[in-house]
Amino acid sequence: MEASAAKRKEPRKALRVKVISMGNAEVGKSCIIKRYCEKRFVPKYLATIGIDYGVTKVQIRDREIKVNIFDMAGHPFFYEVRNEFYRDTQGVLLVYDVGSKDSFEALEAWLAELRRELGAPAALDSVVVAVCANKVDAGKLRVVDESEGRLWAESRGFLYWETSAQSGEGIQEMFQSFYSAIVELCENGGKRPAGGSGFTREQADAIRRIRASKDSWDVLGLKPGASREEVSRAYRRLAVLLHPDKCAAPGSEDAFKALGSARAALLRNLP
Ligand code: GTP
Ligand code: MG
Repeated sequence: MEASAAKRKEPRKALRVKVISMGNAEVGKSCIIKRYCEKRFVPKYLATIGIDYGVTKVQIRDREIKVNIFDMAGHPFFYEVRNEFYRDTQGVLLVYDVGSKDSFEALEAWLAELRRELGAPAALDSVVVAVCANKVDAGKLRVVDESEGRLWAESRGFLYWETSAQSGEGIQEMFQSFYSAIVELCENGGKRPAGGSGFTREQADAIRRIRASKDSWDVLGLKPGASREEVSRAYRRLAVLLHPDKCAAPGSEDAFKALGSARAALLRNLP
């Protein structure tokens, strides 16, 4: 009896977790971590050499968590150093700079590196990935818009946050939801709880393809010279897929409008 009463009073053991940062050099990984841990921002660029390591404690609901943060260097030169540190990771901050298309397009390669270093392909389901669209402050010219970034992240089951290490925008909220998701993952036996993004991979792919289209044929996924009937059929299929009432994917409204304009433009000129 006494033993069990004593046990009940005992606080829950602190959870130990490991998180890493990834993304091209200069996108702001170290600054995001510094903003969160030290509440300050350094405008001068000091490249991370290999890896920086820090420990912090946070409280999420009734749980204390001890976070080991491994802040990685983004430069390709440091790959050999980075690859030692992927194992046993529960959380990944995957960062790009909204003013750099290259850094956004590189996310795919970072994901490939993560997949490779974690080992089994299913291991990706055992980590929480928070995509940070960083540098959303006024000082930067933006070239990757929100819906594009959000679509990329959410279609893969990742969190998406707009952040600025400079102004602090989104940083607290991002870390809070990142750590909450990690606690959920740990309490769920190390698997990311299934929480649908509200749209399918097919919808996300269609929106991405439409965004990248060069002309109206492209928008409908047709070769130039297709018939009126083919145009109408392609339009109907995509319009059903992406109708804003049925598709919650970021950018679906614009994609849906583009479909309508493409069909109208093509039908105007077809016999
Ligand atoms: P590596 O360590 O080389 O991989 O780079 P990193 O991703 O850690 O970049 P770091 O945090 O060192 O930031 C790179 C540069 O971007 C620095 O000059 C920062 O001051 C600047 N920077 C970082 N975050 C922001 C931001 O939110 N807004 C603006 N305007 N600049 C930022
Ligand atoms: Mg750094």
